[in-house]
Amino acid sequence: MSIETQTQHLFLRAALNLPVERPPVWIMRQAGRILPQYRALRAHFPDFKAFVKTPEAASEATLQPVDELGVDAAIIFSDILVIPEAMGLDYEMVESKGPRFPKVIEHAADIAALDAGQIAADRLEYVYEALRVTKKALDGRVPLIGFAGAPWTILAYMLEGGGSKTFSKARRFLYTEPVLAHILLQKITDTTIAYLKGQVAAGADLLQLFDSWAGELPPAQYRMFAVPYLAQICAAIPEVPKTVFAKGAWFALEDLAEVPCQIIGLDWNTTPAFARARVGSDKVLQGNLDPCALYADNSTIELATLEMLRTFGRQHIVNLGHGVYPDTPLEGVRTFVNTVKAFRYDSI
Ligand code: CP3
Repeated sequence: MSIETQTQHLFLRAALNLPVERPPVWIMRQAGRILPQYRALRAHFPDFKAFVKTPEAASEATLQPVDELGVDAAIIFSDILVIPEAMGLDYEMVESKGPRFPKVIEHAADIAALDAGQIAADRLEYVYEALRVTKKALDGRVPLIGFAGAPWTILAYMLEGGGSKTFSKARRFLYTEPVLAHILLQKITDTTIAYLKGQVAAGADLLQLFDSWAGELPPAQYRMFAVPYLAQICAAIPEVPKTVFAKGAWFALEDLAEVPCQIIGLDWNTTPAFARARVGSDKVLQGNLDPCALYADNSTIELATLEMLRTFGRQHIVNLGHGVYPDTPLEGVRTFVNTVKAFRYDSI
């Protein structure tokens, strides 16, 4: 997409720090959690992975929130765990429980056995196809966001074998096997770069890195084992704007300021003033309403959303502070989106 076409979209204008009349709004995990249309579509598939690997269905799930909620961007329906799978570490999505890896990474040989880079990324052709189908169907209505998990978060899944209360296996590994940790992080990084380049070639207009378990690490470990890989990925893909969402990593904002991304995602534990003081004036901030605010009555949601808009000021892309929860009332989601869409900066 040329810069000229890019600048027509509110979302991309905001991402590139160009003037906008209001901030754009989208919702993390908007595809596949809250809409009845999604559940109807999902019922046609035996499991989540079969769904993700069917480009037409993935595309339909991507478009549903755009059609139904009027958000300013689409995010491709997929999962961050397609990367470990493509590298040779298979996972299962256990119904109403979450991901589980039958085999986890323990030894040097397990890491050596993983594929990485282009060979692994080529196995994700089904995601590229979903992007191409979606891009065509969107027909320029809103930009399309591609994504991947950040290397530390993917390493955590590969070592823990699923979610965890303490992430002690993954954290322990950084102290006991730092050299192996770096080898694994580099393999994940090489694969992620090839994968995200493939997503851009297939039509992604912007990329987001989800570092969901960033907040599990002490600042020094995050600086050593996470930030350099985020920086490598962002530097390798100059073609599109990039967002880094490091959940819980308020302590790392000064480090993230040095990462060559345009947008920093904030969770609800961080105030925009706190973040702005640490990332400087160049970055756009994304976030950060508490997803639980959407369970409230409409006037409470409206007030909370307006308060958020006021505290961020300009250079803002509106989102929640993390993914929307599956049982969130649709009316609350609509109130949130519509409040942002009715807002104008010149009214404050
Ligand atoms: O944003 C979107 O709507 C696009 C699709 C998307 C999914 N997963 C689909 C999905 C995105 C961006 C993700 C990212 C993802 N996946 C993250 C990072 C964001 C975050 O929440 O921190 C993480 C940590 C995962 C790993 C994962 N995938 C978990 C823990 C689970 C189980 C719990 C859950 O979220 O439902 C999944 C499964 C998953 N990924 C589902 C969907 C729609 C539900 C699967 C089903 O229908 O059974």
